[in-house]
Amino acid sequence: MMGPGPSNVPDEVYAALGTKTIGHLDPYFITIMDEIKAQLQKLIKTSAKLTLPASGTGSAGMETCFVNLIEPGDDILILINGVFGMRMQDLATRLGANVDTLEFEWGTPVIVDAVKKKLDAKTYKIVAVVHAETSTGVRNPVAEIGALLAATDTIYLVDTVTSLGGIDVNMDGWGIDSLYSGTQKCLSCPPGLAPVAFSEKAVAALKGRKTKVPNWYLDLTMIIKYWEGHTRAYHHTAPVNMLYGLYQALDLILAEGLDNAFERHLENHRALVAGLEDLGLQMLVAEKYRLPMLNAVKVPDGVDEAGVRTALRMEHKIEIGAGLGPLAGKIWRIGLMGHTARPENVRRVLAALKTTLAR
Ligand SMILES: Cc1ncc(COP(=O)(O)O)c(C=O)c1O
Repeated sequence: MMGPGPSNVPDEVYAALGTKTIGHLDPYFITIMDEIKAQLQKLIKTSAKLTLPASGTGSAGMETCFVNLIEPGDDILILINGVFGMRMQDLATRLGANVDTLEFEWGTPVIVDAVKKKLDAKTYKIVAVVHAETSTGVRNPVAEIGALLAATDTIYLVDTVTSLGGIDVNMDGWGIDSLYSGTQKCLSCPPGLAPVAFSEKAVAALKGRKTKVPNWYLDLTMIIKYWEGHTRAYHHTAPVNMLYGLYQALDLILAEGLDNAFERHLENHRALVAGLEDLGLQMLVAEKYRLPMLNAVKVPDGVDEAGVRTALRMEHKIEIGAGLGPLAGKIWRIGLMGHTARPENVRRVLAALKTTLAR
């Protein structure tokens, strides 16, 4: 699995997923939930009490953050340089927000000075950005944008679906108020859960809403009663086995150590890029802004983009991703996410590409 997610899942996580199901209100299960919350707080680097895995994939995490924080008429700024920023715009618009956007060329990062100018001209309730733009392989300057928002009332909302577990995510250090992620990328768990975290500022905005959260399933004011406190109240049946899987996946990452996991991603990314360049291939993104876990590679002129992917899948059992939107047909996306980020996988994909491209 060397595409943009899901990534390879370790055997320990498969074993955890297959462990016997117990009740979602069983006291033993509640202790596991509390431990998952503590694991996520370590991974995200936050003391935010409202930290939990929402039921659903990364998009459910996005919806959780947006539906709980946005009320109709709110002024929202969305920074866009790829597909996942565009989805934020779509969602905020559906919720009746006044959405302003700042758009940047796909394959390049958000420019902090342009954000500063926009913020000098207007005050926003929320500023939202994608940390790791999976559609292009660009790392956005999340810490620098956070510094612009420090000491303001603006809520800083960040998509960490692809970044979490593969590069540093420092919620408290970077002033992030609301964050969402997904399990199937650098956490190396199958798709199905979406870690989310809300700072005190974000919780205050949630509690101060004038209107009800417009989505029943993802309403944190109700979900909190299942995830916090001495007595837990049923909201929806938690995906018990998925939570076992996440518990195990997070345990593996924390046992490895965050810095070691980040270094492993970086080293394998560097080896992959060196090998791709030896094959005469070029990267889409300038070196400074590249993501280690998502490598966007330009398709050389005259090469059958889809044909290469099919050959890798059929002949070498390797899945890589295609380009999206304006980059469709122009790039391949090679993932080195979580458990996939290993030297043997780098060697395999390079050897497979060499044979296929030569043909
Ligand atoms: C940056 C980013 N945000 C959001 C999503 C949506 O997550 P999901 O497909 O798990 O719903 C993805 C999925 O690829 C993503 O890469």
